[in-house]
Amino acid sequence: MSDPTVKKVVTNEANYWDTFYAHKFTVSVPSQFCCLSAIEAPKTRPFVEFGCGNGRDSMYMATQGFRVYSGDLSGAAVANLKKNSPSNATFSVCDVSKPEHVQALVDQARAGANASDNFNITIATKSGDTLYMEYRCSLDEALEKEHGKGHYRRYVETAKLVDLLETLGFSIKYEITGQGMAKYKAEDPFVSRIICERN
Ligand SMILES: C[S@@+](CC[C@H](N)C(=O)[O-])C[C@H]1O[C@@H](n2cnc3c(N)ncnc32)[C@H](O)[C@@H]1O
Repeated sequence: MSDPTVKKVVTNEANYWDTFYAHKFTVSVPSQFCCLSAIEAPKTRPFVEFGCGNGRDSMYMATQGFRVYSGDLSGAAVANLKKNSPSNATFSVCDVSKPEHVQALVDQARAGANASDNFNITIATKSGDTLYMEYRCSLDEALEKEHGKGHYRRYVETAKLVDLLETLGFSIKYEITGQGMAKYKAEDPFVSRIICERN
């Protein structure tokens, strides 16, 4: 990430989330999607979460017996998680815009090879690996937000992501877009969920 403009945005964003977790978000109940994933995912496989925030989902997965390796851009959130983490959960600062960070966390979870500079999701994953994704899709952009418009949301076009995943060698096992899946206070966001498996 050599572009100084991108670097500045990520730095501002990290500061934003540090403040957010210090004062504004204390929910410890796991997300609906996390509970769904906990039922479906085999406990023999490590669980890696990117953007784990205050760790509500990762901590829950740890209580369910998964070995958890999670990361977030917010150093403050990670420092707090480290104070309370159970023995089967590891937390680290991880910026998903940096391929080497993502690769390092995946490598740590596999207890395998060293991080590679040539990361892409196809290299980091192996045949049979499963990705569970939940995110706000482009339909959500127009809706009112509990934390305002400056809350660093990225709205993803699901059809494009599906095309990309298939091109990268993943089979889509489950895909849904709608409301009623991640209600938060007065918000009922449009989210998409994808479960896909590496061929
Ligand atoms: C909407 S919060 C969701 C947190 C958590 N998954 C949850 O459901 O409670 C988005 C999270 O993504 C993290 N984040 C934003 N940009 C990131 C990046 N480039 N790399 C890693 N995490 C990032 C933020 O720090 C924040 O914790």
